[in-house]
Parts: sequence; structure tokens; C-alpha cells
Amino acid sequence: MALAHAQRELARFGDRAVLLNANFALCGAVAPAHGFERVDGALLDLGLSSMQLADDERGFSFRAHGDLDMRAGPDAAVRAGELVNGASEAELRRILAEYGEEPEARRVAAAMVRRRAKEPFRFADELGRFVAGVKTRRLTGVDPATRVFQALRIAVNDELDNLRRGLGAMASLLAPRGRLAVISFHSLEDRIVKQYFARESRDCLCPPHLPTCVCGHRAGLRVVARRPVRPTDAETSRNPRARSAVLRIAEKLGR
Ligand SMILES: C[S@@+](CC[C@H](N)C(=O)[O-])C[C@H]1O[C@@H](n2cnc3c(N)ncnc32)[C@H](O)[C@@H]1O
Repeated sequence: MALAHAQRELARFGDRAVLLNANFALCGAVAPAHGFERVDGALLDLGLSSMQLADDERGFSFRAHGDLDMRAGPDAAVRAGELVNGASEAELRRILAEYGEEPEARRVAAAMVRRRAKEPFRFADELGRFVAGVKTRRLTGVDPATRVFQALRIAVNDELDNLRRGLGAMASLLAPRGRLAVISFHSLEDRIVKQYFARESRDCLCPPHLPTCVCGHRAGLRVVARRPVRPTDAETSRNPRARSAVLRIAEKLGR
């Protein structure tokens, strides 16, 4: 769906725009195979698109009366419904705590397991209402199911592992002075980007107590803006979905 839309949007660029349906974590192989051995710029715009959120059938929104799917692309092996109705209580608790930073992960996972024993969850809004009914703590302006849905989506699409692999792959494609820019939308993603840029902009990574460097690591990137770039109030009022966006940029050292 996204590619069909982009095909129309980018038609005026002719064959300068190469569109591929592939996991960006694999771009280290995919891009050179399409003539992009060295790139001057790489942009990662993470997360979900408004089109995906608006499509009830995809089950990304806890307000949608769509199947519990949440697959962003064809290579996601499981649907959210299979996780919710099939994963062990311990696995569900881990997913909610690790990928959603859900403070009531234990309570919600236990309640989901009790409920599915009577009747499996089928729809996104059904799960959304159930989670809202189980949770005891409320954050103003945030739907109680938000973190649970973020966690399930990240688990279904292996988003954090793809991001870790994608950062390394894209950095390896950069030409000297080339730039990697990443727009993230929640703290888990942003933390991975921040830590990767910090790590790759340092030489030795050995623990400080070691008298000499044994890692041989050399800085490959330079962090362009110390402070991440955030949307202005004007942008956020124009596009509320931009409010949690954070842009970080790093440049390939010119060795
Ligand atoms: C925030 S949206 C991008 C929106 C787009 N830049 C625009 O202007 O419309 C993120 C997109 O990345 C896709 N995506 C998520 N994980 C991906 C991955 N590992 N590889 C490739 N695409 C991925 C999602 O399906 C979604 O369409």
C-alpha cells in the first residue's frame, strides 16, 4: 500500500527513484544490488504510517473493529492475535514490559490469559476495551491500551531488532561525509538510535579499567546535532502526530 502510494507520488522522478518492498534491516545487501553501493544520505522514518493507522482491517488502532493483525509488512511471521491468544503468560508479560514499558504488565498479562481461556480475543477494539477495564492507573490524555498496542506491534514486526540491524547496515552504506537521519516516535526507538550514534562516534569502547585498548574499535560516525531535533509548536499544531517525533543525525567520518 505504501509503495503503491509512493509510486504515484514519485513518478515525476522517473527511474531516479527506486522503490523496493524489503526490510530496511537488509539494506546492506538490497541497496547495492540496486546500484546504491555508496549513499550520501539515508533517512529512516520509523513506526507506523497514518495510512496504516487509518486502515481498521490492519488492527493497529485500539479503536478499530478490525482483526488483531498489526503486521506492517509481508515478512512478519505472526499476527498480534496469535500472540495474545497463544503466547505464555510470562512471554506476554515480557512483551508488555519490554516493548510497551507497561507498568501493569503483570496484571494485564494475567487477565488476558484468564479471559482468553473463556473466549479468544478477535478484534482490536475488543482488546482495547478489555485492557482499559483491567488497568487501574490512568495517564491523562493517553488511552490505557496505548502501551499494550505499541508492545504487540513491536513484537509482531520485530521493530527494535530491525532498527538495530538497519542502523548498522545503513551506516555501512554511507559515503564519507554521508549522513544518516532517523526519525523516531517513542523512547525505546530513540534510545537505540542515541546509543548507536554515541557508540559509533567513539574510538575505544573497552571498560575504563583496562590499561590498554583491546577492542580496536574506531569511531565511524560524528553526531551532527548534540540535541535531537524536535517539532516546533507550529508543526505540532499543524500535525499533532508529529508531537513525539525526534530526529537524530550522524555523519560518516571522512576516513
Ligand atoms: C512512519 S511510516 C513512513 C511514512 C512515510 N515516510 C511517509 O512519508 O508517508 C513507517 C513505514 O515503515 C514501514 N516499515 C516498518 N518497519 C519496516 C522495516 N523493517 N522495513 C521496511 N519498512 C518498514 C511501515 O510499514 C511504514 O509504512
